[in-house]
Amino acid sequence: MFEIVDKLEENHDLSDDFFKSLLSTDKYDAYLFSEADNVRRKIYGTDVYIRGLIEFTNYCKNNCYYCGIRAGNTNAERYRLSEDDILLCCGEGYKLGYRTFVLQGGEDPYFSDEKICSIIKKIRAEFPDCAITLSIGEKSRESYQKYFDSGANRYLLRHETADKNHYRLLHPESLSLENRKRCLFDLKDIGFQTGSGFMVGSPYQTLDNIVSDLRFLRKLNPEMIGIGPFIPHKDTKFRDFPAGTVELTVRLIAILRLMFPYALIPATTALGTVSPLGREKGLKAGANVIMPNLSPTAVRKKYMLYDNKICTGEESAQCKNCLSNRVSGAGYKIVTDIGDAKKPNKV
Ligand code: 5AD
Ligand code: FES
Repeated sequence: MFEIVDKLEENHDLSDDFFKSLLSTDKYDAYLFSEADNVRRKIYGTDVYIRGLIEFTNYCKNNCYYCGIRAGNTNAERYRLSEDDILLCCGEGYKLGYRTFVLQGGEDPYFSDEKICSIIKKIRAEFPDCAITLSIGEKSRESYQKYFDSGANRYLLRHETADKNHYRLLHPESLSLENRKRCLFDLKDIGFQTGSGFMVGSPYQTLDNIVSDLRFLRKLNPEMIGIGPFIPHKDTKFRDFPAGTVELTVRLIAILRLMFPYALIPATTALGTVSPLGREKGLKAGANVIMPNLSPTAVRKKYMLYDNKICTGEESAQCKNCLSNRVSGAGYKIVTDIGDAKKPNKV
C-alpha cells in the first residue's frame, strides 16, 4: 500500500497497468484520500482559495460535441456582458473577499483582442491586488502575449483528452489536439500560470485515455488542474450518454494531489452537480480551490454547458455563504487570498 503513494509522489516510471489498477478499484480509496489530504495540509493547510467566475459570453464559434453552448445549439439563448457589467461583477466579488477573477466564455469573435485587453487593463487598474484569469479558449501565441502584457496572470484551458483518437470523437474536424497542446505550451512559455484538465467519464473515454491524460499533465506540469465529471446536455448528440461518476472523479483528484503536491485543484461545479456533496468529497480528497459564480443572476441559467448545473439561481453573496458553510463543514476554511501556487524550491 505505502508503495502506491511513494510511487505517485516520486514520479517513478509508472506502468500503465499500475495506473489502471489504481483507477479501477475502490479498495485504495480511503488510503488515497487520507494521504492526499495529508499532502494538501502539509502545503496549503486547511486553506481553500476562491475564484470568482464571471461567465461573460455564451456565444461560441466552436461545436464541441459535448458542450451545451456549442455554436450549433440553436436552443441556447445567447448573451454577452458589457465591460461595465464585468467590472460591476468584479466590484461585488471584491467586497465578498474574492482576489481572483476568472473571465470565462465561449470562443466569441465579438470579443476581439482589443476588447479583451481593454477589459483586462481596466480590471488590473481597479483591482491591482487581484489575479486575472482568462478561460476563453484557443488563440494565437500573439494574442496570448497581448493578454499577458495587458495584465492577465493565469489561463485555464483544459486539454479535454490527451488521446488523439478520443479527441476526434469529442470534437469536429476544425479542432485538433495538436493545436490545443500548442496553446498550452505557448501559455506556459509566455509566463501564464496555466491550468489544464479533462472531463471524467466523457463519451468513449477508456482507462487508457485517462492514463494518457495523467502522462500529458506530467509533461505540461501546469499550476492548476481542473477535472470534473462529464454531464450530458439535452441539446447535444451525447444527450443519452451516462454522466461521469463522483467516485472516479474524486479518486482522480486524490491521485492528482499525490502526483502534483503543489497544484491548485478545484472541487468543480460539475462535481457538485452530479452529487449533492460532490464538492465536499473533492476537498477531502485533496482539492483546494472553489470557483463560485459571480455572473449576474439574470444570465446564469444561459451558461449551461451541461444539464442541471447548480448555483444558477443564487445571488453571488448567497453562493459565497453557502460555500463557506460547505467548506467549513468539510473541515477547511475559505481564505481571502490571491492564492498563487506555492511552488517547491526544487523543481
Ligand atoms: N459536462 C461536463 N463538463 C463540460 N464542459 C463542457 N461541457 C461539459 C459537459 N457536458 C467542461 C469542459 C470545458 C469546461 C469549461 O467545461 O471541460 O473545458
Ligand atoms: Fe452556490 Fe451553493 S455554492 S449556492
